[in-house]
Order: sequence, then structure tokens, then C-alpha cells
Amino acid sequence: MSAAHPKESPPVPDLSTLPPDFLWGVATAAYQIEGAVRADGRAPSIWDTFCDVPGAVDNGDTGAVACDHYHRWPQDVALMRRLGVDAYRFSVAWPRVRPDGVGRVNPKGLDFYDRLVDALLAAGIRPFVTLYHWDLPQALQDRGGWPERDTAEAFADYAAVVAARLGDRVADWTTVNEPLCVSWIGHLEGRMAPGERDLARAVRASHHVLLGHGLATRAIRAAAARPASVGIVLNPSPCEPASDRPEDVAAARRMDGHVNRWWLDPLHGRGYPADMVAAYGVEPPVRGDDLTVIATPTDYLGLNYYFRQVVADDPTGPPPYARQVPVPGAVHTAMGWEAYPAGLEQLLVAVTEEYAPARVVVTESGSAWRDEVTADGTVEDRERTDHLERHLAACAAAVDRGVPLAGYFVWSLLDNFEWSYGYDKRFGLVHVDYPTQRRTVKASGLRYADLIRAHRRRTGRLTPSR
Ligand code: FCB
Repeated sequence: MSAAHPKESPPVPDLSTLPPDFLWGVATAAYQIEGAVRADGRAPSIWDTFCDVPGAVDNGDTGAVACDHYHRWPQDVALMRRLGVDAYRFSVAWPRVRPDGVGRVNPKGLDFYDRLVDALLAAGIRPFVTLYHWDLPQALQDRGGWPERDTAEAFADYAAVVAARLGDRVADWTTVNEPLCVSWIGHLEGRMAPGERDLARAVRASHHVLLGHGLATRAIRAAAARPASVGIVLNPSPCEPASDRPEDVAAARRMDGHVNRWWLDPLHGRGYPADMVAAYGVEPPVRGDDLTVIATPTDYLGLNYYFRQVVADDPTGPPPYARQVPVPGAVHTAMGWEAYPAGLEQLLVAVTEEYAPARVVVTESGSAWRDEVTADGTVEDRERTDHLERHLAACAAAVDRGVPLAGYFVWSLLDNFEWSYGYDKRFGLVHVDYPTQRRTVKASGLRYADLIRAHRRRTGRLTPSR
């Protein structure tokens, strides 16, 4: 028994179908880890504003300090090295780089990401840069935010600035993380910044986020000094009816339209699904060649997967007039989300069959549990470890069924600021003790490192893939 594993290690699950160059990664996002919200010329984002709204975030938590990654990043890069990951997915904070959203560039903001990229490359870790993970500069929100077309153009300009600076070393780019959350949760349900509840504005936001993605895809390719691999990250869910009642079957189809087809269809040149335009009763503000821009071919499709949706009709509820219902007997994470690894295989296969992406990457997968820290600071998080292994096994099964899966990023490297849930929900492979900022690799992190090593041994790959 090795010192690192005081408890018995279970056998390695069969991941033999994962390709030799499979990318093993971890993911974070700027506002969730960086802190230092006033440092070096960063201006407020909509999340700083939202956190100040009484009751918006559990316990009144904010991202003001978070994991203090802005100052502790060398230690975090060292942690990743210790885990042996190939790749790190992080996001750039727009309000650090362009505090007013447009115009003036803040060199100190860019310098931070420049140093981080150099340190990652020196550690043999491939940087995957996300340009928008929800922290819109407040200055742009004051001009109307994503419901305004100008925001899409401002986003592409900002993307070009970052690509011009980092694109000589960074090859992998994501435009937008989860347009669904930006649009539906931020503008329709009001549970995320900017906290609006307005269907017409939410539909406008959705169109401009997708347009911003298309414009930014082109801008990144034009500005980067080396060939750029560019994609978008969606968070689709398999949707099933709660019963065979025709109302529930139709509701599941609407939920599928709301969370899946509304994004995947226009990105793949099919335009917005007509059944959903009818269900919302709102036309997206499409102009000129917008739909061509949105369908600009990408190099990969990023998918974040957390749960499936079992759906019942909800005629008096908010759009899409369908609601997720609990699954009796299911295991739920601390988020109240059903742990359902089979849904990941189902989703990967369904998206591949329907849209034929050239390459798919699981850009987020992970789980929050009520971690217990032992007296010596370790965390024996068996549930997270089990969840991780089952989701990796689902990936291996999907590859076996022909899915061109190139990599898997665990959400998250560190426990962090989980948006409106605050710090209470811990997703990290690494535990963070917030008062001291001490980091401790959890059992799940050690296990992930083992799985990565086992894959390398099996495939004869000795070093991380670059
Ligand atoms: C995703 C987000 C990510 C994190 C996980 C739990 O929707 O992209 O920032 O909050 O959920």
C-alpha cells in the first residue's frame, strides 16, 4: 500500500478505447478562482455587481478573494504538474484586459495571462483559453449588455486583442462558455448575473452571444500568430419525458429545444428551431448574414455535462413550459443534480450522430459533495472519485461507439466560487481552505493522477501530449 493511498485503491476502470493522444485536463474560470477584483486596473464585471445584490448569492459570498489565484497561480500550476494533466482550461477576465469593455487595453491584465501561459508551457501543460466565462465588463452591461448587438462586436474586438497577445503560444481557444446559462439563466430565470427575468431580452441575448461567438472565431483566427483551434462550449442535457403522456413527451421535446437545439442548430447551419421560436413567441433579431457568421466552421465542439433532464409538462411555468422532475431512487450530488453517467455516453453519441462535429471535447465534468476534511487535512472523497471514474468510463464507451472524443477536463482543479451557490459547493480535485488558502489534493485528485499515468503506460506515451 503506497503512502499516497492509505485506503485500498480500486482497480483501474477499462478506459482502453481512449486514444493515445487523449487530453487529460482540469478546468477553472476567472471569476471563480482569481479574486483580486480591484488589482492592476481590473474593472467590475456583472458578477461583482450581482454579488452585491442582497440574496443573490448564498451566504452573501462574492468572488472578491476566491482562491486568490491571481497571486497564487505558480502554486496552482505546480499542483497541475503534480496531477500530471496534459491541459488546463481557464478563462480570461474581459474586465482585466479591457476594463471599459471596449477601447483602452489594460497591459497589466494581459501580462497576467501572458505569465500564466508561459508557466504552463514550461510545465508541459497545454493552455486552453476561454474568452467569455460570464464576467461581462459592467461598463457594457450599463449600455444594455448581451441583449444589445454592440456587445457581440465588442466581444470579437476583445477576443482579437487577447489572441494577438497570446496566440503565438496558445493553440486552443474557446469563445463562449455555456451560452444557455448566459442567456436563459442570466436573462430569463434571473439566477445568474445580470439577474434579469425577461424572455424578449433573453432571446436577444442568445442571438448576440452566438453572433459574438461567430465573430470572435473569425477574429481569433485572424489575430493569432499560430494556427488556432477554435470552438464553443455548450452544456446540453439528454431530455426524456417523465411519462408517456403526450403532454410530457411534447414538454421533453420543448426542453430539448430550449437547452440543446436552440444552440446546436444555428451553430450547425440550420438556423433557429421553428418550434422554439413559436414556443417563445419571440423572433431572434437576425440581420444580414448573421446565421452564416454563427455557423462559421469550428475546430471542435466543447460539451459540459452535469445531468440529464427528466421532463414534465408545465403549462403555467416559465418558458419552455416544461420542468425537470426528480427521479425516484436517484443519487444526487450536493448541487441536487442527479449523478447519471450513462447520460454522458448518450449525449456524446446523440450529438455526434446528429451534428457530426469533427472533434468533441468534454470541457467540463465533475461533482460537488459534502467533503469532510480529516484532522491531517486530507479529503477521502469516494463519491467524487466514483463519479469521475464512471464518467470516464462513459467517455470510453462513447469512443467505442464512434465519438471523436479528444479530451476530458475535470471541473474543477480547485474548490471555488460556485456562482450563486457561493463557496459552499465544492467541486475541486484539490481542497481549498479559504481562510488560509491552503490547497490539499483530495483522494479524487490522486486517483485522477493514477488514471492518467495508467493511460500513458497503456498507450506507451511517456510524457504529457503537447
Ligand atoms: C458550469 C459552469 C462552471 C461551473 C460548473 C459547476 O455550468 O460552466 O463555471 O460552475 O457548472
